[in-house]
Amino acid sequence: MTESEYVLVTGGAGYIGSHTVVELVQAGRNVVVVDNLVNSSEEALNRIETITKVRVPFVKADLRDAAAMSKLFTDYKITSVLHFASLKAVGESTKIPLVYFDNNVTGTISLLNAMEAHGCHSIVFSSSATVYGDATRFENMIPIPENCPLGPTNAYGHTKSTIEEILRDYYAANEKTFRAAILRYFNPIGAHPSGLMGEDPLGVPNNLLPFLAQVATGRREKLQVFGNDYASRDGTPLRDYIHVVDLAKGHLAALAKIESVSEGICREWNLGSGHGTTVLEVIAKFSAAVGRDLPFEVVGRRAGDVLDLTAAPQRAADELHWKTQLSIDDACRDLWNWTTKYPYGYQKPE
Ligand code: NAD
Ligand code: UFG
Repeated sequence: MTESEYVLVTGGAGYIGSHTVVELVQAGRNVVVVDNLVNSSEEALNRIETITKVRVPFVKADLRDAAAMSKLFTDYKITSVLHFASLKAVGESTKIPLVYFDNNVTGTISLLNAMEAHGCHSIVFSSSATVYGDATRFENMIPIPENCPLGPTNAYGHTKSTIEEILRDYYAANEKTFRAAILRYFNPIGAHPSGLMGEDPLGVPNNLLPFLAQVATGRREKLQVFGNDYASRDGTPLRDYIHVVDLAKGHLAALAKIESVSEGICREWNLGSGHGTTVLEVIAKFSAAVGRDLPFEVVGRRAGDVLDLTAAPQRAADELHWKTQLSIDDACRDLWNWTTKYPYGYQKPE
């Protein structure tokens, strides 16, 4: 057992986790990462070291491996957990829902069991705006406040809302001690400004900007815009895009909040900017960062897409003293910097 206190980052080799590890280390925290590398590369740990000059200890393990989790909590004195580890591809989740529930929900229960057994009571959980589903089904719910009724529309979203319920029920049974921050992210984009870290999607990217980045490097011919018949200013859907470094800093704010309360807490916070941007506007911004128009064609709507996911960010501003500082233009610049330096991410060229 180490003397020092550690923050455990599950999924810390992944996109958002790795950026958050950098912010934690730069804030002076001791960090240990656990990840099974199902959707990431150990190279991310090397990049974290290059940026921070600190080698963060890494444990390659699956959260569902109870023995490995017990050893992790025995080897390190873990006082708080940032819980990113999850499968996250919406389309895939609708085809293999049991895999998603087992990985995301069973993984979280295994983590909570290990925390309980080792007297660790603080967790920051990566939830998602996807738990709201189509908020336009209600009047006056755009921008979306945290008290908007939940209604996920796919298996991935159901795993997130289920984990939220587990955390709320666990808190109800442990109100004096358990501290949980449920962070509902809107659309994270961009890369570390150093150009050393960024999103590294395996296979064909599902998300708008990773796909567009591969169009810019010539790996993909053109972007397909999924529908221009929505009730927005240019007919394409609105999303609240947020720079991944801003998002990472939101975790430090949430951690500070739950570590400062005198009793338990379980509370949801949106992490978004409060501004909705259309698909065509994002294409224009990233094209400006690249320096030329990027090819796209409008095709039919993608199943499950909703018109508008824009956050009401006031609760995080009031209670976490956090708000976004970086713009979509900053994110496009940083994404393009990362893409030009590492067009194949952490992998070697195909
Ligand atoms: P990511 O895939 O890059 O990172 C997730 C990490 O978790 C990966 O490194 C993966 O290897 C690891 N992992 C998965 N299952 C595991 C398991 N059972 N045991 C150990 N490690 C495991 O994804 P990301 O974009 O960084 O997302 C981080 C979190 O934020 C996820 O919980 C995701 O659902 C949530 N989120 C992401 C977005 C987004 O658009 N990227 C939006 C909302 C919420
Ligand atoms: N889009 C395209 N073409 C593409 C990819 C996306 O037109 O090739 C459009 C989508 O239709 C949508 C917008 O770009 O209107 C953003 O799509 P993304 O796939 O990048 O992101 P989503 O909003 O669908 O979902 C993302 C994450 C979810 C998370 C959600 C939170 O994938 O896990 O943000 O708001 F829950």
